Amino acid sequence: MPATMTGNAAHGDHAPVNVTFQPMGVTYEVPFGETLFEAAAQAGVEVDTVCGGNGSCGKCKVRFESDQIPAKSIDHSHLTGSEIRQGYRLSCQVLAWQDITVFVPPAGTRTKVQILHHGVSRAVNLQSNIKKIYLPYTPPKQRSGIADWEFFKQGLPAWTHRLQVPLRWLRQLPILIRDQQGITVTIAGHKQVVHIEAGDTSARNFGVAVDIGSTSIVGFLMDLNTGEEITSASGLNRQTSYGDDVIARLSRAQYNPEGLLQLHRMVIEQLNILLEELVAEAKIDADDIEELTVVGNMPMHHFLLGLDSTYLGLSPYAPVTHDSITVSAAELGINLTPDTPIYILPNIAGFVGSDTVGVMLAADMHETSKITLAIDVGTNGEVALGSKDRLIACSAPAGPAMEGARIKQGMRAAGGAIDHVTIDTDVEYSVIGGGAPKGICGSALIDITAGLLEARLVDFSGRLLRKSELPDGIPEALRERIVEHELRKDNYFIIARAEESGAEQDIVFYQQDIREFQLAKGAIRAGEMVLQQVMGCQDEDLEEVLLAGAFGNYIDLANARRVNLVPQVPLKRIRSIGNGAGVGAKLALISTRERLAAQRIAKNCEHIQLSGLDDFQRAFTHAMRFPKKNLEKRITGVLS
Ligand code: FES
Repeated sequence: MPATMTGNAAHGDHAPVNVTFQPMGVTYEVPFGETLFEAAAQAGVEVDTVCGGNGSCGKCKVRFESDQIPAKSIDHSHLTGSEIRQGYRLSCQVLAWQDITVFVPPAGTRTKVQILHHGVSRAVNLQSNIKKIYLPYTPPKQRSGIADWEFFKQGLPAWTHRLQVPLRWLRQLPILIRDQQGITVTIAGHKQVVHIEAGDTSARNFGVAVDIGSTSIVGFLMDLNTGEEITSASGLNRQTSYGDDVIARLSRAQYNPEGLLQLHRMVIEQLNILLEELVAEAKIDADDIEELTVVGNMPMHHFLLGLDSTYLGLSPYAPVTHDSITVSAAELGINLTPDTPIYILPNIAGFVGSDTVGVMLAADMHETSKITLAIDVGTNGEVALGSKDRLIACSAPAGPAMEGARIKQGMRAAGGAIDHVTIDTDVEYSVIGGGAPKGICGSALIDITAGLLEARLVDFSGRLLRKSELPDGIPEALRERIVEHELRKDNYFIIARAEESGAEQDIVFYQQDIREFQLAKGAIRAGEMVLQQVMGCQDEDLEEVLLAGAFGNYIDLANARRVNLVPQVPLKRIRSIGNGAGVGAKLALISTRERLAAQRIAKNCEHIQLSGLDDFQRAFTHAMRFPKKNLEKRITGVLS
């Protein structure tokens, strides 16, 4: 939806204009006619968005002091009447036509997002790709006039016979080997010198495993001599300024080298900040970090490497490469010793990236004989199924509803979000960070829907019943929370009343929100069903169902099953594995054996392309519905 010019073109010469964002007090000069949304992104002011500025998510509201900005129909369709009267407008729909001040609402701050650091752990043989070897000082007379490099190699073990040395280190070698304290050489992969330092630094051998998610970036500082995690750091992926939805980011970079460069720079800058935090926290030098491993989905992989993602965003979704790749810190602009290797784990195909490989590696799916289903719920829900005999995977187009987008009062899992809800005789809920609720995040969507189903306020098709349709025995407190309108899609259920919770307005769950949730969870469940069909495996054949990622960690597993997000298997077979992708990156950092296993997984895992597949459409229609009964009750019924 294109923005149109608003207000008078006071700058007839089209001179740049200043946009001031409050309460941050940031003033930024932008070209005349730039959208305020774009101006905020460039100024580093965080305005909520999911769609990246295309006018479809309704999250990017900012407030104008005066009412001089006429509201457009698109404002009316996303904002309440009260918000319009208060001066709120969608920032992606207003063009900067003169010096102007806007107020960014507190809900637009994006700093306290729940980011998952921990994940499953499993035993692994420590076998780092990096070796540090100390060569003690040798008096000049004993060097017998041989070449410095030859003398240097004589002090190294036999396995280094193919050693390559970059020119930068050859240039420094004469000084270094004549240092009174001896030198330490860092070797990557048995064959490449990546670092030479004066003195014995062999005890300081660190690496960083990085999980670049669409929403957040997490780094784990690891001791490569012991395999231990020293510390971790994280932040919201700054690319979310251009949309939570990776499709919005792909659109920005499509046929647009400048857009690609912006996304690339954002992730590199953020990685550098992350490394600074890790180094400061652990009280080490950046020079002590000898290697990085990275996982991410396919778009994040392309943005990190600055690869043209145009065709990745177009059917049949061809990436530039899906192989593992090692680049140097200098090539990417990472602030470490220039030759520090950065190993990016291999991807599978389509949108199924190395983060899914990391999950499969963490869950040992390539080694186990148990039929395992692993699900990473996100804008694209990645699903993998199989065992050591066969692995298949797909990416299900869930859309951003689980991130709170397209849900009228939805928001990301950040401070103020209702994250858990229990519906029994009345409603109870918890709020991230405590205090008054501001909206509903994805984990609460599952709880609310499961609760409404169990309370018989919603039927298996997803219809919120009118009061006159309610069965007998519904508690009065729940009945009173249903608010009816002429149009059924506008009916809603009150989760938190403003007067009781301190919220600015009632926090409610609309009939339309249930439909959006059904679309999202239906796509993921349909992906699971297609994989099960390809593998010839029924729900009862699944020995483990694993939920990976932040979403999988925070959701109530029984409720996830109740709403049919996961297969109908006994609860003891379902578990969360935390940040599985990050664990995969850590395993690949401390063990070359695991690195090879990741390559085998990526090579052998069959990619099932869902788009255009008739079976997917059929499964999707089925998966949108809810089970008529809770599985535990069905089992109890059978047993009794
Ligand atoms: Fe403006 Fe989505 S509607 S960014």
